[in-house]
Amino acid sequence: MSTDGYRIAVVGATGQVGTLMLALLREREFPAREVVAFASERSVGNVLGGAAPDGGDLLVQGLSEESIQGFDLALFSAGGSISGEWAPRFAAAGAAVIDNSSRWRMQEDVPLVVSEVNPDALDSHRGIIANPNCSTMQMVVALKPIYDEAGIERLVISTYQAVSGTGKRAVDELLDQTHALLHEREIDTPDTYAHQIAFNALPHAGDFAVGEDHTDEELKLINETRKILGDPSIRISATCVRVPVVNGHSEAVNVQTRSELSPERARELLAAAPGVTVLDDPSAALYPLAIDASGQDGVFVGRIRRDRGHERALDMWIVADNLRKGAATNAVELAELLHERGLVHGQRTPSVA
Ligand SMILES: NC(=O)c1ccc[n+]([C@@H]2O[C@H](COP(=O)([O-])OP(=O)(O)OC[C@H]3O[C@@H](n4cnc5c(N)ncnc54)[C@H](OP(=O)(O)O)[C@@H]3O)[C@@H](O)[C@H]2O)c1
Repeated sequence: MSTDGYRIAVVGATGQVGTLMLALLREREFPAREVVAFASERSVGNVLGGAAPDGGDLLVQGLSEESIQGFDLALFSAGGSISGEWAPRFAAAGAAVIDNSSRWRMQEDVPLVVSEVNPDALDSHRGIIANPNCSTMQMVVALKPIYDEAGIERLVISTYQAVSGTGKRAVDELLDQTHALLHEREIDTPDTYAHQIAFNALPHAGDFAVGEDHTDEELKLINETRKILGDPSIRISATCVRVPVVNGHSEAVNVQTRSELSPERARELLAAAPGVTVLDDPSAALYPLAIDASGQDGVFVGRIRRDRGHERALDMWIVADNLRKGAATNAVELAELLHERGLVHGQRTPSVA
């Protein structure tokens, strides 16, 4: 292993997002001197084969005041309560924290950053940086060039979200239910979701707080989009639906712009936008699909067309891998930006690999 580079903590290293963050740090040759994998007490002592930057194994550790000392960077994907408790402690110990949970996203002094959309927000970080919600992330990558050209007055969003967005247990539940039903067996009582997810569509992605008629996922889409684009005046309607797709979120988005924008010009803008691939030839059945986006780092846009009910609105279909661009890829891109901009706390003259 190189003696140069950063000492990096990956918290939630055994999870779907954590596993991918480890792989991306390795594949993108992020300048890491050492990576330490943290997970729950259940996993402490387990070995993550080939997960180290040099392809060696990592031994899973537990979080303690002693074990979190001496890091330059900490990438968190262990849920909101772990981030609430441990992200400030890592930051106080000198690490720059990039957090995948929703815990810090709406806090005023915490930048909420998408690498292609608002990278300059990183400049003001004070130790914790928030990675947006997956469905927000992919949408704002596609909306940014439209926003810059024509402004955005209103969005009407319907999502078709994969079960991997809920965690590993949800993927197992979909596969178990599907297998049972195909073999004409009764399914177990649903555990992760309120209803059977196999062969179904649940208008209930996220959770309803008592007395709230929107799920927290819908509220994240509304609030995080405004924060990232820096425009609280955008009016947003969101319905988040969980569908029996293993991985890759799809979104039907109606975009009402402030000035008129033709579908042709929108296609041109999107084709030139960083991180976006336009797949838009419906007569040849070419449009983005979750199964194709899964495993890819980009955001895919198609079905770009004039809303026939509004002269200043366009409809489009936006698809991305929720575990990659929706979480791990953006987190590692933010780490790269912090490195390039000299914004990593506790930096020890790292050298680029
Ligand atoms: N899935 C997505 O599409 C997506 C997108 C954006 C953001 N996120 C966010 O990323 C986070 C993780 O999602 P995921 O899909 O990767 O979940 P996951 O597969 O269920 O993994 C959860 C990870 O958290 C660890 N963990 C749980 N309790 C812990 C504790 N007390 N101390 C330390 N580590 C603990 C788990 O360790 P064990 O293996 O030991 O249990 C595991 O490594 C969540 O905050 C989620 O909201 C997910």
